[in-house]
Amino acid sequence: MQKIVTLTRHIIEEQRRHPGATGEFTNLINDLAFAIKLISYNTNKAGLLGVLGEAGKTNVQGENVKKLDVFAHETMFRALDHGGHLCVMGSEEEEHPIAIPKQFPIGKYVILFDPLDGSSNIDANVSVGTIFSIYRRVTPDGTPGTLEDLLQPGSSQICAGYVVYGSSTMLVYTTGNGVHGFTLDPSYGEFVLSHPDIKIPSKGKIYSVNESNFDYWDNSIKQYVHYVKQIDEATGRPMNSRYIGSMVSDFHRNLLYGGIFLYPASRRAPQGKLRLAYEANPMAFIIEQAGGKASDGAQRILDIVPEKLHQRTPLFIGSREDVDLVEKFIRGEMP
Ligand code: AHG
Ligand code: MN
Ligand code: MN
Repeated sequence: MQKIVTLTRHIIEEQRRHPGATGEFTNLINDLAFAIKLISYNTNKAGLLGVLGEAGKTNVQGENVKKLDVFAHETMFRALDHGGHLCVMGSEEEEHPIAIPKQFPIGKYVILFDPLDGSSNIDANVSVGTIFSIYRRVTPDGTPGTLEDLLQPGSSQICAGYVVYGSSTMLVYTTGNGVHGFTLDPSYGEFVLSHPDIKIPSKGKIYSVNESNFDYWDNSIKQYVHYVKQIDEATGRPMNSRYIGSMVSDFHRNLLYGGIFLYPASRRAPQGKLRLAYEANPMAFIIEQAGGKASDGAQRILDIVPEKLHQRTPLFIGSREDVDLVEKFIRGEMP
């Protein structure tokens, strides 16, 4: 009989490598997987359940909130609030740190999430996702977690992952021991290991960027994007352009095929658009574990010490050589 490795089994086997592991982390991931199955089910059924469209409010970043953003946020919170594994949560959809309700025990872990990434695509049935990032707390055990727990540099993450609600639902995660992808089998509702030990090619063919921002960019970014479109067989140009507008989906494709995703700073968005804590950091941990690279143009994403919960960062992420090259442009060492 073929060996089926479920997500739970994979986590249990990974945890065995850590002497003293209590099973708390395994339980946290199980709670998280349950939330993800609910979000996946509702994303697939969205048109039928009447949960498409605007929720009629804006979030702390001033973006229109969709009904599925709200649903995904509440699902994550409710699946994770009572397990006793967490001391605080942070979400794109909540301005302040989210406390664990008083009636539940307080744990040693910290989670940050983007409950629904790519929400502008929801109503058009285009793939969206969920992103999460987990840390060990830095404040004293047994007390409620604080902003300090949420503002750790990405290099302290102990787990990061994302889910793509695509033609199938896939969960990709790392605990610092490679990157592993699981496909949700809808017939029995389990995540099954389908992509063990994913590695990104050191150089890719794809570049993903919202080029409508071209006029707002610095010259170095304009030059880089111009460069990747020029014809030069020896250096594999032109590269191929692919941009979905859901970072999770753009990232996932580039992870498997090789390439670079960039969301630079611009005159329109001086700090870039993407959020460090629950978009850039988890993806940076994953890409490094897959042999790739993530940079803000000048430094490693994982080395940034966050100052604010919803802080933004420019992001250049993907195949190592492609990210190295855009950094060269930024430093003025090219063409
Ligand atoms: P979110 O839906 O969580 O707000 O994130 C949207 C992000 C990201 O998924 C995507 O890559 C980017 O915004 C797209 O931005 P543009 O529409 O400016 O290209
Ligand atoms: Mn997002
Ligand atoms: Mn979102």
